[in-house]
Amino acid sequence: MRAVVCTAYGPPEVLQLAEVPEPSPKDNEVLIKIFASAVTASDCIVRGFKVPSAFRIPMGLALGFSKPRNPILGMIAAGEVVSAGKGVKRFEAGNQVYTFSIRRFGTYAEYMCLPADGVIAPKPSNLTYEEAAAIPYGGLLALHYLRKGNIQSGQKVLIYGASGAVGTSAVQLARHFGAQVTGICSTANLELVRSLGADTVVDYTREDPNNREERYHFVFDAVGRRKSSRFQGTKATAPNGKYISVDDGSPKLDVEGLTFLTRLVEAGKLKPVIDRRYPLEQIVEAHRYVDQGHKKGNVVISVQHSSRA
Ligand SMILES: NC(=O)c1ccc[n+]([C@@H]2O[C@H](COP(=O)([O-])OP(=O)(O)OC[C@H]3O[C@@H](n4cnc5c(N)ncnc54)[C@H](OP(=O)(O)O)[C@@H]3O)[C@@H](O)[C@H]2O)c1
Repeated sequence: MRAVVCTAYGPPEVLQLAEVPEPSPKDNEVLIKIFASAVTASDCIVRGFKVPSAFRIPMGLALGFSKPRNPILGMIAAGEVVSAGKGVKRFEAGNQVYTFSIRRFGTYAEYMCLPADGVIAPKPSNLTYEEAAAIPYGGLLALHYLRKGNIQSGQKVLIYGASGAVGTSAVQLARHFGAQVTGICSTANLELVRSLGADTVVDYTREDPNNREERYHFVFDAVGRRKSSRFQGTKATAPNGKYISVDDGSPKLDVEGLTFLTRLVEAGKLKPVIDRRYPLEQIVEAHRYVDQGHKKGNVVISVQHSSRA
């Protein structure tokens, strides 16, 4: 099968299209024919081994020191179950699924195997595979952090970085939870963020977000501490409120969350936001774009199957 392999940590050019053996599922695994993937901010961090020095040893131990132990990167896939190991009860051939393959990676390929008890759920029936690939990453991360905020209906929520993969999901989920949402982004993304349901949008290029007089029950920094060091989230937080950054702690990403997102999408409460689409063959260009850190929502990869039907 065709897959993108990462030969060393480094710039996007370390990714190369290659012919590799097709995997076969173990007893507890499913074999998925992948039709779409996504290039996420996390993919770029892994590819470039771009972590603060304190995390270099744990990350090297987990993923490999000079190059990734699993050379096929990618965490997001939408596709069809081709076959299931004999111990698998949850899925069968023909099921349309999507996944957030957190530790295994392997989604920049035509096929992948995953444990059936991993973060895999039925794909929303009203989305194409490419649209579905725009849901799990931002959706699960935003859901995790918003649940930590314990938002009650009518509360005021501030989302900094409202136009990225995490931010666009956070705006929609906060609205679903009944919050009054203020989204902060740059000029070009104001309309997008408003269209996702934000009650108020703030342009950080024209107004210093640290000088807002309003106080919020929950302030969510969806940009992350490394890039948003100028944003002082605690200043905008109400006395009994909570401020949290997307870089705080290890998010819990599980199948319950993904199934919850499937239901929200099917109910029309959560929509995929796709900035650009690239074929698998242009993964280097896709990584160059995501590396810039200003995508609007998601960058999706389409996987064409030429060799087998
Ligand atoms: N805790 C964890 O384990 C974990 C896991 C995954 C991801 N993350 C973090 O989540 C972050 C967000 O991921 P994502 O996929 O949503 O990223 P993304 O799609 O690349 O979005 C980045 C957003 O940040 C905004 N932005 C970039 N630079 C900015 C700046 N200097 N000031 C203000 N806004 C800025 C961009 O908006 P404009 O274009 O309008 O500036 C864009 O909306 C990642 O950077 C990563 O650090 C954490």
